[in-house]
Amino acid sequence: MIRLENVTKTFGTGASALIDVTVAIEKGEFVFLVGPSGSGKTTFLRLLIRDMLPSKGTIIVGDWDLTKLPNSKIPHLRKRIGVVFQDLKLLTDRTILENIILPLEMTNIDSKTALKKVEDILSQAGILEHKDKFPVQLSGGELQRVAIARALVFSPEILLADEPTGNLDATTSWEIVKLLQDINALGTTVIMATHNTDIVNNLLKRVVTLSKGSLLKDEKPRPKADQPLAEKSHHEKKESSEKAEQKTEK
Ligand SMILES: Nc1ncnc2c1ncn2[C@@H]1O[C@H](COP(=O)(O)OP(=O)(O)O)[C@@H](O)[C@H]1O
Ligand SMILES: [Mg+2]
Repeated sequence: MIRLENVTKTFGTGASALIDVTVAIEKGEFVFLVGPSGSGKTTFLRLLIRDMLPSKGTIIVGDWDLTKLPNSKIPHLRKRIGVVFQDLKLLTDRTILENIILPLEMTNIDSKTALKKVEDILSQAGILEHKDKFPVQLSGGELQRVAIARALVFSPEILLADEPTGNLDATTSWEIVKLLQDINALGTTVIMATHNTDIVNNLLKRVVTLSKGSLLKDEKPRPKADQPLAEKSHHEKKESSEKAEQKTEK
């Protein structure tokens, strides 16, 4: 449902954020987009919502060729793709509920249906109890949940999250990733840009790695047997590597 073909993005400054990237992501996938700072992750995500056009190449989302999409269709595209930006862009003078209902109020949905929808999403995101608070009253993890909830308001087919665990401690980071996995399990395609190696290495998900704008690796989810040994003790590790050696000897 998402296809980048030979996509290059060069800025006016001459900086190339993406170089000849070709990748396809199917409906329902969960993909980690990784790479050091400056490798092109945010540019990749911004291209998918037509925040900008590629300098070269083609980008397909659903049945749309984004390089040919008329500007008038962009709002429609952005309802189908929810985005959580690094700076969450929450309105500080509005409550959590008001922040999330705002995009719905701009459509012609009736207010009762809108309210029900927002409360359902807040509940799914685990922050219904905070609905009448202002952003300043919430923790970093809770604010991340608010931003995710807002991105879900039009029931998008795709959810993009740009370093959603960037400013969070390890425990809270895992909770956020759990929420994204739950959303994915309900059918939404999720692309999460991150350089949280702990999370990436411990989940069996596809990992697309960028390096200085180029696609360095595209690793499909590994089978369970290849799982890292992080959870095991040194003793168990030793034992299992011995077993592996015995196997190869046979
Ligand atoms: N609007 C822009 N103008 C000029 N250069 C940019 C712009 N956005 C990003 N870049 C450059 O493109 C490269 C990739 O940036 P970015 O996509 O933000 O990477 P990441 O999200 O992986 O840190 C960097 O070298 C960055 O400086
Ligand atoms: Mg970035």
